[in-house]
Amino acid sequence: MQRILVVLALAILFFSASCEPDPPISCDTCPEEPVDRAISGPSTPLDYSLEVPDYLPAPILDEANPLTVEGIELGRRLFYDKIMGRDSAFACADCHQQDKAFTDGRALAAGIDGRLGTRSTMSIVNLAFNPNGFHWDGAFGKLWEQAIHPVENMLEMDEDWENVLIRLRRSDDYPERFRAAFGISRTSEITQELAVKAIAQFEMTIISADSHFDRVVYQNSEFFTEEEQLGADSLFFVEDVPVGTLHPGCGHCHNAPSFGDNRFKNNGLDAVSSLDDFSDKGLGEVSGSRFDNGKFRTPTLRNIALTAPYMHDGRFATLEEVLDHYAAGGHGVENEDPNITGFSLNDRQKAALLAFLKSLTDESLIEDSRFSSPFE
Ligand code: HEC
Ligand code: HEC
Repeated sequence: MQRILVVLALAILFFSASCEPDPPISCDTCPEEPVDRAISGPSTPLDYSLEVPDYLPAPILDEANPLTVEGIELGRRLFYDKIMGRDSAFACADCHQQDKAFTDGRALAAGIDGRLGTRSTMSIVNLAFNPNGFHWDGAFGKLWEQAIHPVENMLEMDEDWENVLIRLRRSDDYPERFRAAFGISRTSEITQELAVKAIAQFEMTIISADSHFDRVVYQNSEFFTEEEQLGADSLFFVEDVPVGTLHPGCGHCHNAPSFGDNRFKNNGLDAVSSLDDFSDKGLGEVSGSRFDNGKFRTPTLRNIALTAPYMHDGRFATLEEVLDHYAAGGHGVENEDPNITGFSLNDRQKAALLAFLKSLTDESLIEDSRFSSPFE
């Protein structure tokens, strides 16, 4: 009897020994397996103070998600890491590309397997100054809540957060980074909330404020060309325009220094016969109010030359087409903004307005290594 037990014990020992070390497991095949280990290493993150030039408004900081050096760095990694997507094959940065001011050059966003979304990818610069909800329709009140959505959206990264968390907990690198950023002590404490908060911290730091326009107007280190000056003074901004003049008046809604007031407006894109007929209801979908149908958030025009195509559905390929749209003066739909008036520009004025729009490009943004992939 004793011999049998010994043999059995040896067999068990041998059997378990032969299973060590664990072969690398792709966690997609075994998502139910719990992963919990103690994490060592530094656990007191350093406060990060967001530097904003004095010509921009004060950033809107989230008390529930204070910025730290380690949190921002973790967020940057998560933003660029394809392990956040299904089959570890899709990252936020696949759509939000730095060289295009964090857009993708497409009319409609294309997610995993090339699945087309219904809206155009937004530039994620200067989010720290938006008081009014994120997305074209303001659907998300908090930046970190927004980051939950693309991971699980079928048309974007199409992954279950459960799987993402298992990959993060098993990683050789992330547990220490989560501990450094949030002071946790076990891998089981890596949660969706911490992951999206880190991403939001990184996004808060993406500030664009060094365009030719900024250098001319705020930093006094460059000059406008005559053409840019004409575009600024008599076409884009509205200060000196007599009331009642037909005028591009872009500054009514896209005024400096933000170049987008973040308010929800109908800028006259769709000729609908009633407010119920917008194919994308925009704000109306979120607020439930019929009068909000067809209203979208006025986005920033900073870096606009880098972010074609334009509008929430990418309907305009070029800035010339955008100007033609505004010049036509909308369609008289009842909730169109009164500042959509129509106007006509000669070739010289048109060129001047375009030159001014191009002066809003911030070349340093697209080269800034703080915002680039940490994996390259
Ligand atoms: C498939 C392309 C795609 C992927 C992947 C993607 N996004 Fe987006 N992003 C979009 C589109 C499209 C919008 C506009 C959505 C809308 O209005 O419905 C957007 C909007 C946003 C906004 C709102 C910006 C604003 O000014 O309101 C933020 C922030 C953002 N994305 C961050 C992220 C993060 C973080 C990830 C990864 C977790 C991510 N995105 C992944 C396409 C993508
Ligand atoms: C009444 C307010 C208003 C005025 C005036 C206005 N815009 Fe807009 N603009 C908006 C809104 C709202 C959107 C978003 C609309 C959408 O996508 O449905 C927008 C979007 C844009 C976009 C697309 C941005 C992107 O990221 O795709 C460009 C470019 C633009 N406007 C340029 C201009 C120019 C140039 C002028 C002056 C000729 C102007 N706008 C006047 C409100 C306005």
